[in-house]
Amino acid sequence: MSKQDTETGVVAAETLDRVEAPVTWRAYAICVFASFGGIFFGYDSGYIGGVQGMDYFIKMISGPDATELLSWQSSLIVSILSVGTFCGALIAGDLADYFGRRFTIVLGCAVFIVGVILQTASAGLVLLVVGRAVAGLGVGFVSAVIVLYMSEIAPKKVRGAIVSGYQFCITIGLLLAACVTYGTENFDNAGSYRIPIALQILWALILGIGLMFLPESPRYFIKKGKVEEARKALGRVRGQDPNSHYVEAELNEIRANHEYEKRMTPETGYIGSWLLCFSGSVGLASSNVRKTLLGISLQMMQQWTGVNFVFYYSTIFLKGTGAVSNPFLMSLIFTLVNVLSTPFSFWFVERFGRRSMLLWGAIGMAVCEFIVAAIGVTVGFNHTHVVNGVTIANNISAVNAQIAFIAIYIFFFATTWGPGAWVLIGEIFPLSIRSRGVALSTASNWFWNFIIGFITPYLVGSQYANMQSGVFFLWGALCALCIVYAYFLVPETKGLTLEQVDQMLDEVSPRKSAAWKPTTTFASMEEKQTTA
Ligand code: BGC
Repeated sequence: MSKQDTETGVVAAETLDRVEAPVTWRAYAICVFASFGGIFFGYDSGYIGGVQGMDYFIKMISGPDATELLSWQSSLIVSILSVGTFCGALIAGDLADYFGRRFTIVLGCAVFIVGVILQTASAGLVLLVVGRAVAGLGVGFVSAVIVLYMSEIAPKKVRGAIVSGYQFCITIGLLLAACVTYGTENFDNAGSYRIPIALQILWALILGIGLMFLPESPRYFIKKGKVEEARKALGRVRGQDPNSHYVEAELNEIRANHEYEKRMTPETGYIGSWLLCFSGSVGLASSNVRKTLLGISLQMMQQWTGVNFVFYYSTIFLKGTGAVSNPFLMSLIFTLVNVLSTPFSFWFVERFGRRSMLLWGAIGMAVCEFIVAAIGVTVGFNHTHVVNGVTIANNISAVNAQIAFIAIYIFFFATTWGPGAWVLIGEIFPLSIRSRGVALSTASNWFWNFIIGFITPYLVGSQYANMQSGVFFLWGALCALCIVYAYFLVPETKGLTLEQVDQMLDEVSPRKSAAWKPTTTFASMEEKQTTA
């Protein structure tokens, strides 16, 4: 029984603490293992850049005399993955509710392996593209459901840090892809592209087999009405006896919250349950439609920061300056800065909170991008001359300054918006729409990833908009928009259980959310209702 004031429903601090069971190291290890799914994401988006530049691969796809892929071939090979991941992420929400979070991730690994086998076996465009589409579906499943799974099993105090671990694995995946393709790019045989592609099977096997031994999310079982299974799963994720009073109290809270939500939302069929994600008023921060739009736009804004411009195009871009002797090495350095900076976010996200993190991150990124752009239009990238057919920068130190600010920009991204967007989409949705909300948000990440990858060559190419480093004015302006966005729309979810996040969004606006403290629990509200 909870200690509560019968009139106000305010419950004692010890009851508020009971909404989550204490956690053992083994339980932490379970959560951390799941973040391994990020390796897929990073590696799969990272390796294709390297492979496309390989001589053997170019000749295989475009003919023996080709020195580069035709634009439509390159665009098809790159973008088909995003199409697969976009669809995979959308379907994943339904599968995760129907078959469970864990099963959907394991299924994603299996689908991914099939896609990788097709790509490895390919010796031409068609099979390669089909393989990438299939692998993309698998990556879509994994990328959407891992975030959902991790947010649902992680203890509240370290949930942000643990989901940031997923982002850390994304950055390691990107780095691994860069290193492996660097190692094989000069092979004059099919091993040049087959090795980097086939290696991914290893990530899928580790994640898939490992997950078979991990427990299902207890919140999934509650949604399915399987309370006893939820109890066992919760016991395992917290490292406690399933019949202990700790597990009992946490289970009660999750169950009471779900019952509360069910009372608030009408029973509907399949279409109706999708429409539920868009129900309520856009003006109300606690409505489902607002949460769905928040998740979708968070991932959109994350892509709008321009980070993938640096990861996808920095090599080409730096080549154009004539000041950098080894552009590949430079982009490897950006990738390294990304990996080494991300662990700071484990601390930032729990110390300063999600809201401040996104706010300060956007400020930092905007400043760096405007500086890069300003140097570019005055003395840097845009000012080159050609000597004996070689492009030389007029001002090498200006280009170096730009490179330094791009690296600082990556630091800001890696410590704030990179992990922050993933952390928040796992936290803002109520259980009734959580799997779909996370799926829609992840699909939005892949959609904008694709759009930005697609339009960038047109923005910077000399035969098109020819913005050169002026493109950083655009990314800077979009980051300035992220500042306003974070200030007005992003709530603080640090230190709350997912059920308390629901309560908080019901009671205060995002701007006041950082000061919000829970005063009651769903279990005690239910208790009060039953006694009334
Ligand atoms: C983004 C990716 C990006 C990566 C870089 C992720 O959070 O969603 O698009 O390439 O971070 O580390």
